Amino acid sequence: MGRKLLLEKAHIENIRLYDVYRREGGYRSVEKALKTMSPDAVTEEVKKSGLRGRGGAGFPTGMKWSFLAKPEGVPRYLVVNADESEPGTFKDRYLMEFIPHLLIEGMITSSFALGASRSYIYIRGEYAWIVDILEQAIQEAKNNGFLGKNILGTGYDLEIYVQRGAGAYICGEETALLESLEGKRGNPRIKPPFPAVKGLWDCPTVVNNVETIAAVVPIINEGGDEYAKIGVGKSTGTKLISACGNIKKQGVYEIDMTISVEEFIYSDEYCGGIANGRKLKACIPGGSSVSNFTSKSFIEDCQRRTKNDEL
Ligand SMILES: Cc1cc2nc3c(=O)[nH]c(=O)nc-3n(C[C@H](O)[C@H](O)[C@H](O)COP(=O)(O)O)c2cc1C
Repeated sequence: MGRKLLLEKAHIENIRLYDVYRREGGYRSVEKALKTMSPDAVTEEVKKSGLRGRGGAGFPTGMKWSFLAKPEGVPRYLVVNADESEPGTFKDRYLMEFIPHLLIEGMITSSFALGASRSYIYIRGEYAWIVDILEQAIQEAKNNGFLGKNILGTGYDLEIYVQRGAGAYICGEETALLESLEGKRGNPRIKPPFPAVKGLWDCPTVVNNVETIAAVVPIINEGGDEYAKIGVGKSTGTKLISACGNIKKQGVYEIDMTISVEEFIYSDEYCGGIANGRKLKACIPGGSSVSNFTSKSFIEDCQRRTKNDEL
């Protein structure tokens, strides 16, 4: 069994509710960060963790945060990218639907690190019912002193807003997303300037994926070095995978970054192999811009493994 850092508690009954989430250790990272750490120290832990963005490009998160411009008197924003329009992906939806407070907790700690006092979740328009779930979680966090003015008596203020997109794939691209969030047509902007310098309403902005921001919670709780021990090479930590297609067990799985694609497809812990007695022909390991796994050697390797029942 791989380590579960994000979904370990997602199946606890009523974990969607603040009281249950809190009883299970929720919001510890906020207490730790706001009461015992400086914003730069939080960014440093994220750097140490080796966390890379989970929205597709894999850019190192701590490094992205440290690029954020900090001119005096100008607001900064954290925008969470919950557009998730890539065909076959539903891992962000799962996280927000089943354990919404994990995202809110990650956003508070991350916004503190970035010096943001207003942060946004830009969510795919079709995820209408999840907007209600997130808004309830935000209200509960506020009622319990984790959002609003003077959070936990530390003097830090933060509001989180949820904004629905109108169903355009391109609005997952961060600059098109920012245009849309500003109420305009979702056309991408020319870069540079990058959002870290000129983002939402021309102010310095960090755009991060839902899963990236949720991962900040275990990083702050356990420390960046501990997080970096999981995985392989530059791929540290755990990763949520949306598994669909002609496999026996479709769903969202949390893997650590050491397992192979073959093991993921054939292991009973994950997809359980190919459904209906068929043979694997190809695998698309990510979004539309990744290479598909169709090589003869990959397919043969998978078929040999099933035959030998190695996994
Ligand atoms: C056409 C296009 C669509 C994208 N769609 C998404 C998306 O749905 N969700 C997402 O997080 N990132 C998406 N991205 C990547 C974002 O532009 C951005 O890199 C990402 O949100 C940064 O977050 P991360 O550093 O946490 O990965 C898309 C990029 C392109 C070019």
